[in-house]
Amino acid sequence: MELTQKMFSLILFFIFLPKVILQNQTSDLRIISLLKDNLFQGKWMSKVQSMKQFNYLTLDSGEIQAEFGESFIQLFIQNPKYQEKKHVIAKIQLSNYSESSNTWIEKNDIFLSGGDNLLQTWTESQCNGIFIFQINQESEEFDINELSIDGDLQSTDTNNIHCQINLSFNIKRTYNYAFINNLLFSSIATLILIIQMASTNKLIQQIKQQQIQTLQLSFLAAILSSIQGLNIFYFFVNTLFQNFNYAYFYIIPTFLQLTQAIFKDSSIVGLIWGQRQMLAQLERRALIKQIIYFILISNFFIILNLILYQLYGNSFYFMLTLAFALYPQVIHNVRVGQKNYKFNKLYVLGFLSSKLFFYPYVRSCPANVRNMEPDYLFAGLFLIIYLFSLFLLYIQEKYGSRCFIPKFLLPKPFRYIKEVIVHDSMECPICLNPLNLSPDEMDTKQINKSLLQQIMVTPCKHEFHPQCLQQWIQIQNKCPQCRRDLPPFIENEL
Ligand SMILES: *[C@@H]1O[C@H](CO)[C@@H](O)[C@H](O)[C@H]1NC(C)=O
Ligand SMILES: *[C@@H]1O[C@H](CO)[C@@H](O)[C@H](O)[C@H]1NC(C)=O
Ligand SMILES: *[C@@H]1O[C@H](CO)[C@@H](O)[C@H](O)[C@H]1NC(C)=O
Ligand SMILES: *[C@@H]1O[C@H](CO)[C@@H](O)[C@H](O)[C@H]1NC(C)=O
Repeated sequence: MELTQKMFSLILFFIFLPKVILQNQTSDLRIISLLKDNLFQGKWMSKVQSMKQFNYLTLDSGEIQAEFGESFIQLFIQNPKYQEKKHVIAKIQLSNYSESSNTWIEKNDIFLSGGDNLLQTWTESQCNGIFIFQINQESEEFDINELSIDGDLQSTDTNNIHCQINLSFNIKRTYNYAFINNLLFSSIATLILIIQMASTNKLIQQIKQQQIQTLQLSFLAAILSSIQGLNIFYFFVNTLFQNFNYAYFYIIPTFLQLTQAIFKDSSIVGLIWGQRQMLAQLERRALIKQIIYFILISNFFIILNLILYQLYGNSFYFMLTLAFALYPQVIHNVRVGQKNYKFNKLYVLGFLSSKLFFYPYVRSCPANVRNMEPDYLFAGLFLIIYLFSLFLLYIQEKYGSRCFIPKFLLPKPFRYIKEVIVHDSMECPICLNPLNLSPDEMDTKQINKSLLQQIMVTPCKHEFHPQCLQQWIQIQNKCPQCRRDLPPFIENEL
């Protein structure tokens, strides 16, 4: 019996050995292990009036957050609440805990970095000073919810400009919503991105099978949307780094958006562009030239956009541009003057609008994962601008794409269709078939008769098959023969 007991204790001893050793380590580690994984929050105050703390913060007091790591404390000191304004991150090694006074008195280095607008604008290494953290407990028992921590940071170091420090603070434990916040946002984001990808896939399929008239889709809207797609990808990368403790939540949405931008968005742009080129029936050389121009120009804009995003990515106006995502489609409809414009849900909602959730979210949710200050003017404007474009598209489908343009602004209609006697030798410059045959008929069919036929004649007196010229006009309003501008074509003329 005694032996069994001894054996049992021995086994227990081996199992608990690592823990025993850990508990017996320095008192610093013991107290830190109790404080770790909690968020502390409170106020800081400057001890000297109108002294710019860290030679950077502009007010005499503000908010402070603290977290304990393995053997350090990390402070997040800021002026106003939101991070997009000025903040300083300070990291201090903890190694000199006194159990009798419940205090750390550290005479060593503080590691600083600072920035605003979510950017790290400076990383200044060490400042030497005296840093005191005192744990105040109400009762004898250690209760993390009851204690408060007083801090005192002082430095007279003159090596670095940011070492101008003399402040005190008081912090208490606060509930850390970061986990649930990040989980919620990343789940919604993932859902939206999956819907976006599914509808883009379906759209690509329908375009390939020619179930959708790509002439009805605005090419400009597709390009701008793809560029915004890249911005949403950058947005996720930034969100991932800003919430690095929860980085695993952001791996899937970041990856999804990257795939979307590289493969899906570019497919849509490529397909729409390709079909326009096909209809323009360019020669091989001219087509290759167009492709090279297209690739160069799109790369130029991708790089330009990346630079702009780095500089202004979080600014009011830059973010607001996304609200205009549907306007190129509205303008395209007016320009083409399609009578039978069909509101394409996959394109307008699944492809163009899927990127619109993220900016209003960070600018209107007070506890957003980017820690941005809510700006309800932005959110309101964004919504109004977007909903108005949806409304315009809706009435364009219902009442014709030019229904809201006043009559006197519309160009005078020109009557293209004329009854002309066509004979064998006259051919349509677009399809190169005789004008007295329709473009689909075999050109070997022999007709020697002169026929009175309805064909389209431009103001510059060039003659075309109605089908051919109509398709052409939807791509460009220029005469295929002499490149003169053409008046718009009114479809009910036929
Ligand atoms: C562990 O700490 C206790 C007091 O807290 C001490 O009596 C004991 O000797 C220590 N053991 C080792 C292995 O350091
Ligand atoms: C450690 O703390 C004590 C007081 O608790 C202080 O007198 C001493 O200077 C501190 N040492 C260092 C190296 O900070
Ligand atoms: C910080 O401010 C207090 C109170 O004004 C002052 O007594 C102390 O000397 C200052 N410390 C430093 C390092 O400037
Ligand atoms: C019709 O034209 C073809 C050549 O295009 C010619 O060989 C044929 O003789 C013509 N027939 C008539 C009836 O003119």
